[in-house]
Amino acid sequence: MIKIAVLGYGTVGSGVVEVIEKNKEMVNKKAGEELEVKYILDLLDFPDDPYGDRVIHDFGTILADDEIRIICETMGGVGKAYEFTKLALQAGKSVCTSNKELVAAHGPELLALAKSNNCNYLFEASVGGGIPIIRPLNYSLTAERIEAITGILNGTTNYILSKMEYEGADYETVLKEAQEKGYAERNPEADVEGHDACRKIAILSSLMTGKNVDYRRIYTEGITGIQPRDFAYAKQMGMSIKLLAISREEKGKTLAMVSPFLIDAGHPLHMVNGVFNAVFVRGNMLGDSMYYGRGAGKLPTASAVVSDVIDCARHIGKVIMCFWDAQEAELAVIDQASRRFFLRVKTEGADRARALFGAGTEKVTLPGVPEECGLITPVMTEADFAESYGKLDGLCVGRRLRLEA
Ligand code: NDP
Ligand code: HSE
Repeated sequence: MIKIAVLGYGTVGSGVVEVIEKNKEMVNKKAGEELEVKYILDLLDFPDDPYGDRVIHDFGTILADDEIRIICETMGGVGKAYEFTKLALQAGKSVCTSNKELVAAHGPELLALAKSNNCNYLFEASVGGGIPIIRPLNYSLTAERIEAITGILNGTTNYILSKMEYEGADYETVLKEAQEKGYAERNPEADVEGHDACRKIAILSSLMTGKNVDYRRIYTEGITGIQPRDFAYAKQMGMSIKLLAISREEKGKTLAMVSPFLIDAGHPLHMVNGVFNAVFVRGNMLGDSMYYGRGAGKLPTASAVVSDVIDCARHIGKVIMCFWDAQEAELAVIDQASRRFFLRVKTEGADRARALFGAGTEKVTLPGVPEECGLITPVMTEADFAESYGKLDGLCVGRRLRLEA
């Protein structure tokens, strides 16, 4: 019998207990041993909960208990979660986490700590919720040089954007809905400003390069300021607006960024809607492959945590290889990245904008909207676009968007 402790009995933590209990027979069979949740650490008591008798408030009890071999960290944050994870790994207890903030901030250190204590630090749930993506990168695509990863990596923002696009829903109302469904971070700014997707692409980029991609150096824009009219233009152009997290090899460096993009109907990520996430991976031998599923929510995320628990149970006393060194990856600045851009200008500014962006600029108009038009620029660098865009002071409407090929 392997005994487990769950740290944090919130959305994901309560899901972990539920998955282990509901799928007990299958989970035990696949783990090769019986698993039992012995402790649940939380700040509160849960007297009416069926597992309320396992709730404790002192991490020291878990640390001192030699029966506990695996800990699920589903508290979140980089304070106590970091402290408890380090103590657990130093004590030789494996840790499985959904906490991408901690993985992005301290991944290499915690992996090294796990290795030196002959245990494991696993984080399948930290990216893409229930989608298996960490394990494919670590185990399945090991013969590949990964050239690019493009993902919809945040369930909350994809839920918001889809509801705005297909139902004309209001931003604030849908954000509230995403919070009620347990998708959003404690501070939803992390979702809507792109910080959560940034941490996730930092984790994937680190696994892609084998070096540490510092999330603080990744160019990040969120979805705030996207207006219903942007979706009207997108529809007119046969496109969709998605918050993409991108990482690719560019001249020996890693180019990583998070931003809302217009993507056309032929793009594999176009039909990824609602809380669903998808990760599109390009390997140099395999070519393209895509991983799709629920990117947030209690049971999908918990399922990924429990898959890690099973992996740890199968590898007691053995270290599962993960190639993520502390050495910093070299990041490319985005200024020289080239693409097309979409902007909205007041009608009186259209000629000036076209003169600035060049002859290949395409115009898009919306029926019944004479006061403005949309423009799609030719392919140009971020730096050149920014320079011309800056010269349109007072003539632009809303925010500009990037186009993903
Ligand atoms: P919740 O806020 O629902 O759960 C966190 C739980 O941990 C709460 O019950 C909280 O108690 C408890 N907690 C916080 N600090 C401590 C502490 N020091 N000691 C004991 N208990 C503590 O968050 P989620 O379950 O949504 O998220 C957990 C982690 O998983 C986060 O890192 C999140 O980013 C990540 N994640 C979440 C997903 C989701 O869909 N929700 C999906 C993928 C990852 P209290 O409420 O009293 O503060
Ligand atoms: N808040 C996150 C999201 C949870 O919406 O994707 C899953 O990591």
